[in-house]
Amino acid sequence: MDTSFASRLGIEHPLIQAPMSGSTPPALVAAVSNAGALGSLGAGYLEPAAILEQAAQIRALGDRPYAIGLFVLPDEFEADMAAVAKAREQLDALMAREGLDVRTSLPPRWAPRFSEQFAALCEARPAVAMFAFGVIAPAQLRELHRRGIYVIGTATTVAEACAWADAGADAVSMQGAEAGGHRGTFLHEAEDAMIGLFALLPLTVQAMAGYAREVPVIAAGGIMDGRGMLAAEALGAAASQLGTAFLGCPECSAAEAWKRDLPRAGEHQVTTIRGFSGRAARGLHNRFVEAMPQATGLPYPVLNALTAPLQRAAAEAGRGDLLSEWCGQAAGLVRPQPAAELVARLMHEYRLARRSLAH
Ligand SMILES: Cc1cc2nc3c(=O)[nH]c(=O)nc-3n(C[C@H](O)[C@H](O)[C@H](O)COP(=O)(O)O)c2cc1C
Repeated sequence: MDTSFASRLGIEHPLIQAPMSGSTPPALVAAVSNAGALGSLGAGYLEPAAILEQAAQIRALGDRPYAIGLFVLPDEFEADMAAVAKAREQLDALMAREGLDVRTSLPPRWAPRFSEQFAALCEARPAVAMFAFGVIAPAQLRELHRRGIYVIGTATTVAEACAWADAGADAVSMQGAEAGGHRGTFLHEAEDAMIGLFALLPLTVQAMAGYAREVPVIAAGGIMDGRGMLAAEALGAAASQLGTAFLGCPECSAAEAWKRDLPRAGEHQVTTIRGFSGRAARGLHNRFVEAMPQATGLPYPVLNALTAPLQRAAAEAGRGDLLSEWCGQAAGLVRPQPAAELVARLMHEYRLARRSLAH
């Protein structure tokens, strides 16, 4: 196995547990990192103080290399308040129909300010910073490098990978159409950037070969076991990034109803959804998705902020059918087990698959 990416980061395995905002608490990140892979804190929804607090918890649990993932967004958002009022009516009516005793409210801000999250990330100084939804500014990239932080940019097309490589990212994480959670797309319409990983990986590897420096390509989307990791490597990936596979871990903070629904998810039930957040994301087609196909056309993060309290209430009530049950297309292959065991199992399977193909 090509361990150059792993050794550059000081980790044992070329395996990344994806940052999954809202579902990757310090216990999960630390367990993965302590097992020799790269744990990642999905900090997209966290205020700066919470980023610093959770980073300290991760360090206290093992002090191994780990990543923090952020969403690249403007600091302020203008919302169409007439559309917000209409959306609130629709969402509140749905909650009433479903018997959930919760209603929308106006949040103090639509999302944490990216510039403040970024400052907290710099202060926390993880080994790796990961970004999605856009490219950071040159001064921000320089600041991360000055602090010795390795930068991974998320891309869903070759053009986006080149944008990150041009900006100076150390590696690109290619998010195939199979991937769970929000699409990282920032140069195209989400619908135009649904490229399967089998096409996306070799195309990107070829494009990155045109750069004077080495830009490792990371594979993300639908990888659930060691066979998938080997397939990604065969297509030129330097590491595999798995999200959904880690949702089944007891350390993961995803709602129990969501965890329960994952192994039963048929691949045809995993669709692209805008109704929870205003941004295209992959997850289970459930009752909420049925009722709110485009939920009012509000953009991200406005709709995301409006549905957040509803999500919390649905989780508490055990209503998986009203939750954003993000997952990749291969969710049916999820194996609930402690994160350290999953890392060891993935690497064991990877080695077995490699040996069996060699014969
Ligand atoms: C529940 C969930 C939340 C996610 N949140 C983030 C996030 O906060 N930041 C990010 O860069 N990617 C996020 N992703 C996408 C992952 O980084 C990765 O691309 C994806 O999980 C790979 O596909 P897989 O889920 O099939 O393994 C999320 C994915 C899931 C399933």
